[in-house]
Amino acid sequence: MDNLIQFAYVVSGALFILGLKQLGSPATARRGNFISATGMLVAVVAALLDQGIVEYQWILGGFVVGGLIGATAARLVAMTSMPEMVALFNGFGGMASLLVGAAALSTATGTFTLVTIVLSILIGGLTFTGSLIAYGKLSEKLSSAPVMFRGQQIVNSLLVLGIVASGVMFCLEPANPQWLYLVIGLSLLFGIMAVIPIGGADMPVVISLLNSYSGLAACAAGFAVNNNILIVAGSLVGASGIILTQIMCKAMNRSLSNVLFSGFGSGVTETTEIEGEIKPISVEDAYYVLEAATNVAIIPGYGMAVAQAQHVVKELTEILEKNGAEVNFGIHPVAGRMPGHMNVLLAEADVPYDQLLEMDDINPRMENVDVAIVIGANDVVNPAAREVESSPIYGMPVINVDSARTVFVLKRSMASGFAGIENPLFYKDNTRMLFGDAKESIGGLIREFG
Ligand code: TAP
Repeated sequence: MDNLIQFAYVVSGALFILGLKQLGSPATARRGNFISATGMLVAVVAALLDQGIVEYQWILGGFVVGGLIGATAARLVAMTSMPEMVALFNGFGGMASLLVGAAALSTATGTFTLVTIVLSILIGGLTFTGSLIAYGKLSEKLSSAPVMFRGQQIVNSLLVLGIVASGVMFCLEPANPQWLYLVIGLSLLFGIMAVIPIGGADMPVVISLLNSYSGLAACAAGFAVNNNILIVAGSLVGASGIILTQIMCKAMNRSLSNVLFSGFGSGVTETTEIEGEIKPISVEDAYYVLEAATNVAIIPGYGMAVAQAQHVVKELTEILEKNGAEVNFGIHPVAGRMPGHMNVLLAEADVPYDQLLEMDDINPRMENVDVAIVIGANDVVNPAAREVESSPIYGMPVINVDSARTVFVLKRSMASGFAGIENPLFYKDNTRMLFGDAKESIGGLIREFG
């Protein structure tokens, strides 16, 4: 039986890795998700047999209640609220590791197990409260502004010292549960303190980092309860979370420490004078230009998600193609509010994957583009990232829509994007502003073609 269980763990570990690999491309992501979920089912069944469970009714109860909540939440959540749901669920993962770690205390023997218990409680606890704060900031239940005060770094350093000291004391005196309670309390507090100085804009990066932490917490819990598959799954989550965090930081040209400690978004105001003037365009005039275009690039951003314009965008794409134009999409790695945000929306509208080009692939083609249609994107097409050295986003790689012959920017007003900064693109000679809700503007264009 034991061999069979260990074999099942190897199978589920392999399924996790295969699933992760397939999640790397939109074409195989759905299958990857299914394969990973199957791996998880195998792991859960094997773990239930492995641990000599005596009572199954609580487990079954949890399975039914948790499954119902998860399925309902996944069905009901709006696409734009997905990042905050991920934050919340991630926090629960941290709490689960904390509880597993605490429960392992009853059977703990040896210093190594005690250390892993402290680690699973520490990382699980800070992941839990940190994720709740991230959830609050993203859902705007809390102010998304960075909360900074004098001596913050000192307070945080003292907290870390306190956690380490009480963790060490617990390992030395495991019979004395106060030390463990102290580790739990300080870790929960540290999660809050670590996330409050980070602005709402950076929450996706924080969630990805906390996701990595939740993996490490699960890994530590795996050592605490001596379960191999928990160690493997935790390591995979830990590693993939940190890789995703790095990818996001790179796409914003910022270091992780800048994201975590700089209070980005705490009232950065730019004073650069922008030359040129705003040139609005009507739907009818935009139609005439588009009608003559043979090469069109569509660059979606957060506004497309807000307007839920993906289906009309797909419709417009088909009309343009029928009209003889080549149409491609330029996808910036941090367009929207979560990794893969644009890919998910466009996949939902059945836009073929081969039409989605990454930033590095679309940029060299931009000079041959007749019309670049920017749909609710702002920061990810901001040429200030290349041109204005004093800009907070200077150095961030952007999609160079301004190299296209004509640029249409679809947005409702002159309001700034997530980074809260002006966009010189709107003032360029070849830019025309098509003001209005993106879904309505595109609907108007479709009617003109009609
Ligand atoms: P943003 O720069 O946030 O711009 C979105 C624009 O959409 C706004 O300027 C807004 O202008 C417009 N908009 C909103 N609702 C609209 C509607 N119904 N119809 C038409 N337009 C609408 O978005 P982006 O270009 O996608 O950039 C993403 C930002 O998020 C970047 O700063 C990035 O660094 C940050 N970020 C993203 C991630 C991930 S993983 N995606 C992670 C961390 C940070 P109006 O209000 O005038 O309409």
